[in-house]
Amino acid sequence: MTSRSCLTVILAAGEGTRMKSALPKVLHTIAGLPIVAHVAKAVHGAGVSDIALVVGKGGDQVEAAVRSIVSSVTVHEQTERLGTAHAVLAARASIARGYDDVLVVFGDTPLIETAALDEARDRLAEGADVVVMGFRPASPNGYGRLIEREGRLIAIREEKDASEAERRIGFCNGGLMALRGNNALALLDKITNDNANREFYLTDVVEIANADGRSVVAIEISADNVIGINTRVELAEAEAIWQTRKRRDMMLAGVTMQAPETVFFAHDTVVEADAILEPNIIFGPGVSIAGGAVIHAFSYFEGAKVGPNANVGPFARLRPGAELAAKSKVGNFVEVKNAKVGVGAKVNHLTYIGDATVGAAANIGAGAITCNYDGYNKHLTEIGANVFIGSNSSLVAPVSIGDNAYIASGSVITADVPADSLAFGRARQEVKEGRAVQLRARYAAQKLAKKAE
Ligand code: UD1
Ligand code: CA
Repeated sequence: MTSRSCLTVILAAGEGTRMKSALPKVLHTIAGLPIVAHVAKAVHGAGVSDIALVVGKGGDQVEAAVRSIVSSVTVHEQTERLGTAHAVLAARASIARGYDDVLVVFGDTPLIETAALDEARDRLAEGADVVVMGFRPASPNGYGRLIEREGRLIAIREEKDASEAERRIGFCNGGLMALRGNNALALLDKITNDNANREFYLTDVVEIANADGRSVVAIEISADNVIGINTRVELAEAEAIWQTRKRRDMMLAGVTMQAPETVFFAHDTVVEADAILEPNIIFGPGVSIAGGAVIHAFSYFEGAKVGPNANVGPFARLRPGAELAAKSKVGNFVEVKNAKVGVGAKVNHLTYIGDATVGAAANIGAGAITCNYDGYNKHLTEIGANVFIGSNSSLVAPVSIGDNAYIASGSVITADVPADSLAFGRARQEVKEGRAVQLRARYAAQKLAKKAE
């Protein structure tokens, strides 16, 4: 990372009609984060503090998505879409503030990595005036071709304007660029729309800079860095690449996964070293898993915190506000929402714990339910340390169960239970000896009488 000042221009004025969506293209999400916010995140990682965001009409939501990552954002509206150079020049006022480096990135290219941006900026620091990020796609169709001579980039030719020979070049323009700040505007202002599309091409800056005696270079970055999203098919492909990268990072950081291709992370998932993730787990946003925790198969998380050596699932659902303390256990078909489960507590089977606290070492039996909602309001259930809740009990909130209390199975608990007490909340069982014989005889006789009618 350099100490040079840097502005990043994010181009996001495209309409994205091929997404067939009411939502602007760059707000579709990958790992739960808008595409354009992924771009901002990479930019932020490269030590860039200022962003000039070029949007079409109604860019408020797009601006908010970028601001969620970087606070210094200036928005520029490009009312007519006349090409990528025209779009960059919509940010003229920001560029004119004067930066050492100006990066130009596309808002629909979410997989760009900080390392690629760092490399481009390094080349500027070494003396280049223009750095183009090139790549070698499987098929170059549709991309601008990079025309090099003796290690220098001479021109970028858009497919429509390229000759037969130029079309055979496999080294293509990823679209992203870095420009030396002090001559960026002077070069951009010389671009015309004299081409097949009648557009102002940013790529023309290469020939213009060369004519001006400037140093222009291409760097090669991996193809997935410059994947642009135009359709939902490409969105899904980008999601897959993002997930693959994340799984690899997680494993290299010490997380065990038996079938990594079946585990899906959100953009902000934190899993500490020595956690074990079994197959088929989905992480929504806001989840952290501490070291030593074991997450069994088919579990689903959102806004939840799992403590060290806790044990979750299989088939557990942790919803926002679920916090499991160290060594606690949440088993199969258990849902936990807005609730703290204490150290070593066990909620092993078929249970709903919502708006509650469960004390250390408490044991919640199978089928126990906190009845937290009365149709209008949510109420709290407090369960003390070392409490035993018998199977199939309903705890009707608000209600509090004191430490070491014992709730008999099948109870409906509507009033507070003090510490150390035993509570029954069910009908008392009666046994009539021999009465089953009489009952059967009576029913059999009734059946016979009916047949005879
Ligand atoms: C561009 C490059 C091409 C490169 C390709 C890589 C140019 C002239 N061509 O082509 O060499 O191989 O990217 O994907 O730069 N945008 C605006 N306003 C505009 C035009 C575009 O904001 O007036 C934005 C788009 O929303 C998009 C980005 O700029 O995010 C790129 O524009 P697009 O039209 O997709 O460029 P390509 O034709 O793909
Ligand atoms: Ca494109």
